[in-house]
Amino acid sequence: MNPGEKTRLAVMSSGTGTNFVALCSAAKNGSLDARVEVLICDKPGAAVLERAAEWGVPSLCVNPRDFATKAEYEQIILNHLQSLNVELVALAGYMRIVGPTLLDAFAGRMLNIHPSLLPHFPGINALERSYEGGHGGVTVHLVDSGLDTGPTLGQSPVERTEEDTLDSFAARVHTAEHQLFPSVIQKVIEQQNREELS
Ligand code: GRF
Repeated sequence: MNPGEKTRLAVMSSGTGTNFVALCSAAKNGSLDARVEVLICDKPGAAVLERAAEWGVPSLCVNPRDFATKAEYEQIILNHLQSLNVELVALAGYMRIVGPTLLDAFAGRMLNIHPSLLPHFPGINALERSYEGGHGGVTVHLVDSGLDTGPTLGQSPVERTEEDTLDSFAARVHTAEHQLFPSVIQKVIEQQNREELS
């Protein structure tokens, strides 16, 4: 990363893309000192691909079903990220465990957002389970080979109130995600810039 230049960020997503939009928006308004270089999507037809087109962000959709192994699938993604000199990767609703091909290349430079206060409720349906069980909130963490197990970089608790429905609770969790993810990525960028300078 070169201090003074915008960090080249890739976003990986499988779905709706509200976090993708939050990152694009933060990059546009300057609160995130990054350029979203590319969207990587593993689901043909996912809504996030339309969001990328709207934001003018190039996208690469790679279907894992077209490959015999995860390593081959990830190698295509890795080649693309490297060709764009991507420096940081944000997993924003990317619904797969990342394998060693991508992890080794982006060790310490791949972040994930998860809709619970980890270590509570890793894995799927975290939002529903935290609505039922408490510990509502959002976590941003470094990605490792486990399921939502990497070191935590930032968290925001979200209380469930007596009036809450799952929908109203989920809406506040998503709002918290859209605030936390860009702000944690910005802190990582600032930290990396400091390290470059020292
Ligand atoms: C978010 O809740 C994120 O925490 C989880 O997947 C969801 C993606 O939502 N990993 P969106 O596609 O960003 O709207």
